[in-house]
Amino acid sequence: MFWYEDVSSTNDLAVAMAERGTPEGRVVVANGQSAGRGRHGRSWASPPGAGLYVSAVLRPPSHALPLLTIAAGVAVVEAIQAATGLVADVKWPNDVYAHGRKVAGILAEASSSNAAAIQHVVVGAGINVMPAAYPPEVAGRATSLEAELGRDVDRGLLLAEYLCALAARYQDLLGRRSDAVVRAWRARAASMLGRRVEWEGGGATRDGVALDIDESGALVVRTSAGPVRLAAGEVRWV
Ligand code: BTN
Repeated sequence: MFWYEDVSSTNDLAVAMAERGTPEGRVVVANGQSAGRGRHGRSWASPPGAGLYVSAVLRPPSHALPLLTIAAGVAVVEAIQAATGLVADVKWPNDVYAHGRKVAGILAEASSSNAAAIQHVVVGAGINVMPAAYPPEVAGRATSLEAELGRDVDRGLLLAEYLCALAARYQDLLGRRSDAVVRAWRARAASMLGRRVEWEGGGATRDGVALDIDESGALVVRTSAGPVRLAAGEVRWV
């Protein structure tokens, strides 16, 4: 594990290490990030000392790929509960919410968009720990573990629990126990399943009721035109 006081993005460092051949299991952690990245090209506010910013290099076989980010989301929720007692929820595909506000997110970056050619996947997780000075555009929609709990949280313990949970869930995938990962995700998705969601698709906003995820991690939504399978992207609660 490499620990840094301040980096641009732990994902950027982990990707560079992966490209130089670093072994599976390499972990990069930072106290703060100056250019933390989120999904869909967004930035990830990463004030020093206020969050857990961690990236892991994995070299998954192709059968472990479809559920990898789902497994990482489950691991974050499990780690938060183990380290703090807070019961958080997953929002498809792998955001983590507490009381309706986002507390953690995952950015998984593969070395290739062609599944058969993937050499490595960097799984980056950001968990808001302290109610620090998040930018105003984030503050209303985000929360932190300490804000939810009203007490201090030990980031070292949270990191240890996360890496243990990530390793265990990754072992589930390697051992072809993906049903266990899907079951764990469902058990943490109470705020998601059965809820009306909307998303952008085919140039229009579409909506339906989120029913389940399938064995490849796709979200199954009931719409007025029948069931729809969302393989990637993001949905909003309506
Ligand atoms: C999201 O929900 O948009 C994903 C956020 C992922 C943030 C983490 S923090 C550690 C790692 N390094 C980054 O630059 N991003 C991820």
